[in-house]
Amino acid sequence: MSKTFYIETFGCQMNAHDSEKVIGTLEHEGYSQVADEAEAGLILYNTCSIRDKAEQKVFHRLNEYKRMQGEGKKFAVLGCVAQQEGERIFDRAPYVSLVAGSASYRNLPSMLARLEAGETRITGLDDRQTDQTFDTEFTVRSNPHRGYITIIEGCDKFCAYCVVPYTRGKERSRTSASVLVEARRMADLGYTDIQLLGQNVNSWRDPSGRLSFAELLTAVGNIPGIRRVRFTTSHPRDFTRDIVEAIDATPTLCDHIHLPVQSGSSSVLKAMSREYTREWYLERMSWIHAATRDISITSDMIVGFPGETDADFEETITLLGAVRYDAVFAFKFSPRPNTPAVHMADSIPEAVKNERLRILNDRQREIQREHYARHLGQVQEVMVESYNPARNQVVGRSSQNKTVNFTTAQLVSANPPVGSYLNVRVTQTLPNCLVGEALPPAEGEVSFVPVQRPQPFVVLN
Ligand code: SAH
Ligand code: SF4
Ligand code: F3S
Repeated sequence: MSKTFYIETFGCQMNAHDSEKVIGTLEHEGYSQVADEAEAGLILYNTCSIRDKAEQKVFHRLNEYKRMQGEGKKFAVLGCVAQQEGERIFDRAPYVSLVAGSASYRNLPSMLARLEAGETRITGLDDRQTDQTFDTEFTVRSNPHRGYITIIEGCDKFCAYCVVPYTRGKERSRTSASVLVEARRMADLGYTDIQLLGQNVNSWRDPSGRLSFAELLTAVGNIPGIRRVRFTTSHPRDFTRDIVEAIDATPTLCDHIHLPVQSGSSSVLKAMSREYTREWYLERMSWIHAATRDISITSDMIVGFPGETDADFEETITLLGAVRYDAVFAFKFSPRPNTPAVHMADSIPEAVKNERLRILNDRQREIQREHYARHLGQVQEVMVESYNPARNQVVGRSSQNKTVNFTTAQLVSANPPVGSYLNVRVTQTLPNCLVGEALPPAEGEVSFVPVQRPQPFVVLN
């Protein structure tokens, strides 16, 4: 087998970052990444199972691999569908040689050795008993400025609709020391923007007992060279006031909190096993609204959960107005294997789900149109992400995670380097982005020269 590999990744940021760790592990084992599946000896498919009959899509894609099986290639299925479907994948796609869920990646080197020795039906399907995390110093990050660090893996919350506790194993945290070593190493490499990851990032508990989550945020934010720290996804249950205080006190902590509510109705939240009420959630919102900084709040929502009445849905709509989110990712409930909700009748007709989704998105768009207007005339610091030649605009991101499209008439260089920071005056606001004009850089402003690496194929949720 040629020691070249091609990897495709679907799912959340945790999956995207897992792939960066898998790529690093493979490279350390002597493999090299290729951009075209036709050239690869090993094809890896890192899968997501969160919604919408995900496993059917995986089997469909595996069927496409079938035509390549005569070419001496080997196939591996990783991620959440791998864990969920397990050995059934070999039965339906016998040309697949390796099936491994994320809780087993630390064993990848030995699984690869068995693959090279010609073994088939190799599995890494750790169940919920694993208490190990997958830490590696070989991580290959495709972006040289902004990088992820997973601080907590798995989930113990068991929301009634969700596959994650079954696909990612039990909740397990890394020590503060190991997180800080990785963050310092990234700062030394020139990273300025760090995003701490976890399915419930704020459920992180230091196994060494040294730091609270808010203290970890502050410690990462105080590393010299780090200009921005983000963290996602927070869970309302474990959301404490000191997180807001840490953001208020530490300028490098970005003014953005993603705190998915899922529903505005306490009875739906109960049926979902979210273990908080509308009032509990709104109390946390009041802490954030009372902060000195303008902290942007975003959320995920599910419409059409079994039993959701018109009145329940109306409570979700009124919650939008009470919180004034800067972005909402709304999904139609989708029944998933192994979850308690799969046994509840999927009682809301598809047409009603579609209608609720449309109403929610329309209302939220209105709120964003009004709420983004607060930025008009402000000067925002943006990190440069790309250049849009068609519109002659630079595309950047604000601390609040908003897209800022801006022109550069006042700058010497029309194309400030990707990864550099600039101040932009906001001249127009739209429901999903800000538009502005870059101000000349302040004296001593640092720019970073980008390093190019091949981009892996990633589709984020
Ligand atoms: N741990 C995070 C969410 C992770 S999954 C949290 O608890 O908030 C990302 C989002 O996918 C969820 O917030 C939820 O809105 C959505 N989701 C998960 N399972 C779903 C399902 N079965 N149907 C529809 N949406 C779902
Ligand atoms: Fe899924 Fe709930 Fe865990 Fe989030 S907290 S990953 S929604 S089970
Ligand atoms: Fe998908 Fe697994 Fe992430 S189901 S959303 S890849 S945790």
